[in-house]
Amino acid sequence: MTPITRALTPFDGQKPGTSGLRKKTRVFMQKGYLEAFVQSIFNAIEGVAGKTFVVGGDGRFFNAEAIQTILRMAAAQGAARCIVGQNGLLSTPAASNLIRQRKANGGLILSASHNPGGIDADFGLKYNISNGGPAPEGVTAAMFEQTKTVSEYTTLDSADLDLSALGEVALGDMTVEIVDPVTDYAALMKELFDFKAISDLIAGGFTLRFDAMHAVTGPYATAILEGMLGAPKGTVMNGTPSVDFGKGHPDPNPIWAKPLVDLVMSDDGPDFAAASDGDGDRNMILGKGVYVTPSDSLAVLAANAHLAPGYKRDLAGVARSMPTSRAADRVAEKLGIASFETPTGWKFFGNLLDAGKATLCGEESAGTGSDHVREKDGLWAVLLWLNILAERKVSVKDILNDHWQTYGRDYYSRHDYEAVDAAAAEAMMADMNARLGDLPGTEVGDPPKTIAAADQFSYTDPVDGSVSNNQGLRLLFADDSRAVIRLSGTGTEGATVRVYLERYEPANGDLEGETQAALSDLAKAVNALTGLSERTGRDAPDVMT
Ligand code: G6P
Ligand code: ZN
Repeated sequence: MTPITRALTPFDGQKPGTSGLRKKTRVFMQKGYLEAFVQSIFNAIEGVAGKTFVVGGDGRFFNAEAIQTILRMAAAQGAARCIVGQNGLLSTPAASNLIRQRKANGGLILSASHNPGGIDADFGLKYNISNGGPAPEGVTAAMFEQTKTVSEYTTLDSADLDLSALGEVALGDMTVEIVDPVTDYAALMKELFDFKAISDLIAGGFTLRFDAMHAVTGPYATAILEGMLGAPKGTVMNGTPSVDFGKGHPDPNPIWAKPLVDLVMSDDGPDFAAASDGDGDRNMILGKGVYVTPSDSLAVLAANAHLAPGYKRDLAGVARSMPTSRAADRVAEKLGIASFETPTGWKFFGNLLDAGKATLCGEESAGTGSDHVREKDGLWAVLLWLNILAERKVSVKDILNDHWQTYGRDYYSRHDYEAVDAAAAEAMMADMNARLGDLPGTEVGDPPKTIAAADQFSYTDPVDGSVSNNQGLRLLFADDSRAVIRLSGTGTEGATVRVYLERYEPANGDLEGETQAALSDLAKAVNALTGLSERTGRDAPDVMT
């Protein structure tokens, strides 16, 4: 089979965001669009000759077609091997694991994560490096540079491969190895957690539900929870991946997974419930009558991880993204281990994990993970919670209350204003940046709150010294409450303004409050300060998590 080189005109705007290139599916489906981006990735990594890649995605619309294109281009350009999930499926954490286990040079993961799928919804592609984690900023910047001038791509003129049959097939001179997407991942989970203790818990009558949201974790959760741990059939809901996620929004939060939340809040709900997102890296944790915020989940996991076999060793440190609440820092302090505050985006944890500086990481955006892979991992978080519950033998609610009584409670909520006018959102951020120096000492809101400090978060990576500026506006108030404002890096329409609100209540304070009520003065103060409502024309957030 002879490689063919075809001419291309570069496309504008192929700039990888927080997590790869994410666009409307129809944008990706334009003639040459995917090819231009894939060629730019290949160019940025100095070619693929002789290399091995993992390729797979969350199964959304255009997943299968895009994989065929990637395989042809990799084969035409001399790659040695591509390891592909059966039917093109691989959850993001499973892909990360495969890259590591198989010592691949990198991976191409097709996903727009928690964004809806379908021809009129979203698609995405990201490149992960050999440690299994998302390409760091230096690499994504090199890709973006390539996209500006890419003028041709090389591919094969070959028929589509059958991705449903396990085993090896040749594509030109490249070997395509089609693997079961679950096997290696399930083996890793079995090493980390006490499956016997969790099985005994379930056999003893503990009830649980897992909502796969019609997305990629269905097969993983069914194999592990129902198959290996003996949970009854039906424990996994919406467990068959579909190209449009059952026309849903595969984002595991109280808005988009409302049926699950309603179930767990009802009198006859299960003891434990959880959900994951489109590509399986996010998680939501619920217990009977209680929602655990991702920030609290990270803190609870850090405080209890030693109860699981894989984490009996001392934790090296805990890392959280800047907008994530400071609850995990309080645990780290008590444990006498390091805590790190990074910009939003899992890629910033990679160096800390590789250098052995952090063991657990988490983000307010429903991401939790550890050094077992280099992505956040939804099912991993579920299994660690189950392992802890199996050891402690108390309810989720009791674990949470006990945690707050020990460390105090960080009331926390994120308010999202979605698809607002991008120019208005950017103007608001620019105005705030210009005023930063004048803010300390200013009183805002009613009752008035005094701003103690204000800055734009800038991060210096403690491992490689790289600096990332402008990562979000931080407002610290005199009463130790905090607000963070930033624009989302993952949206595909207009701008999404995220306002992160938190207020600390010490262990002997009021731990039983309702979250939004506890944060309403802070929310009003932020609105008064930024003019958010007038500027965006919205009188309330679209989503509060
Ligand atoms: C993706 C990344 C996360 C990040 C999140 C934030 O899910 O994998 O690491 O926290 O995006 O996205 P945002 O829309 O707030 O930029
Ligand atoms: Zn995701």
